[in-house]
Amino acid sequence: MALILDAQGPGRKAAIAEAVARLRAGHLVAMPTETVYGLAADADRPEAVARIFAAKGRPSDHPLIVHVGGTTPAEREAALAHYAASLPDDARALMAAYWPGPLTLIVPRRPDVAQAAAGGQPSIGLRCPAHPVAQALLAACHAVGIRGLAAPSANRFGRVSPTQAAHVAAELGTLSDAELLILDGGACPVGIESTIVDCTRAEPVLLRPGIIDRAQLEQTLGRAVRDRDAAAARAPGTLASHYAPQAKLRLMDAAELQTALDMLGAQARELAVYHRSPLRCISAHVRLRRMPMQAEAAARELFAALRELDDGQTRLIWVERPPTEPAWDGVRDRLQRAAA
Ligand code: TXA
Ligand code: MG
Repeated sequence: MALILDAQGPGRKAAIAEAVARLRAGHLVAMPTETVYGLAADADRPEAVARIFAAKGRPSDHPLIVHVGGTTPAEREAALAHYAASLPDDARALMAAYWPGPLTLIVPRRPDVAQAAAGGQPSIGLRCPAHPVAQALLAACHAVGIRGLAAPSANRFGRVSPTQAAHVAAELGTLSDAELLILDGGACPVGIESTIVDCTRAEPVLLRPGIIDRAQLEQTLGRAVRDRDAAAARAPGTLASHYAPQAKLRLMDAAELQTALDMLGAQARELAVYHRSPLRCISAHVRLRRMPMQAEAAARELFAALRELDDGQTRLIWVERPPTEPAWDGVRDRLQRAAA
């Protein structure tokens, strides 16, 4: 079982010190970010990065996001200069608007650095997280010469991302105390992974929707942000069957849901329904859970809700299809992939 240390209260300083010691030794630390928990290692040490891929069971050619600090402008600029071969104007504009925050930018990589973390791509994904624990950890790393932390979501490959320390422990429970330290920073306030924008091409491309939506990005850049297409850089987070719960998840409209519940009547069982519209259900064996009406609140609880509904007893999870507005793009994307 991994070691969990509280990093929210008075224990933060000691917990961060322990985390830095482990990172310097090339070991893994799970850190809270505002989006989801990340499984971090020193991005400049291939043997440490290899431990991430092994722990997750993730193919080693899938690039990881490198997290950089931002408590001072000098700290951030040093990290950017270390990893990025150049910073396109779009990347600069988006950093100015949204960093620290839930936005990852793909930029050209300096060929001599972070090869393993980048999965061999000529580019690198950079993100400056806003979570106070992540910020404190990155600042303490910077002080000892660690320039960035490679960190994918701290779940086994293809599973739902963790938004609480206990989720990380459940996902990576086979790692020992010595192999993994989990910094407990509470529940992640955003709840879905960062928006990813590829800034290496002639036009910016949205590789993964998140809570910062396309409309906001286009407003900031003053031009269109394209959807990823077959030519877009690799983004395994966009594999069809990512974020899969054990139970079979299906997206349905409210009317479809009601019709299906009516047809099953009292026979319905081993079924959970995650819905926004009011529904009638006469079976006592169906778990009903209301999805928040606001996109941000829905994102915040999404992965925890899926974990709770996917309790091993439930065989089917029916989810009411979210609205089509841009604000819901991130939630809709994760649900569509969970259903694939
Ligand atoms: O919110 C987040 O982004 C979280 C927290 C921990 O920061 N991290 C996260 O990492 O979701 P991960 O590894 O689960 O997803 C990273 C995504 C993948 O889809 C990966 O392909 C893409 O970022 N990515 C990273 N570097 C890339 C690159 N150089 N080119 C294209 N895609 C890249
Ligand atoms: Mg992930």
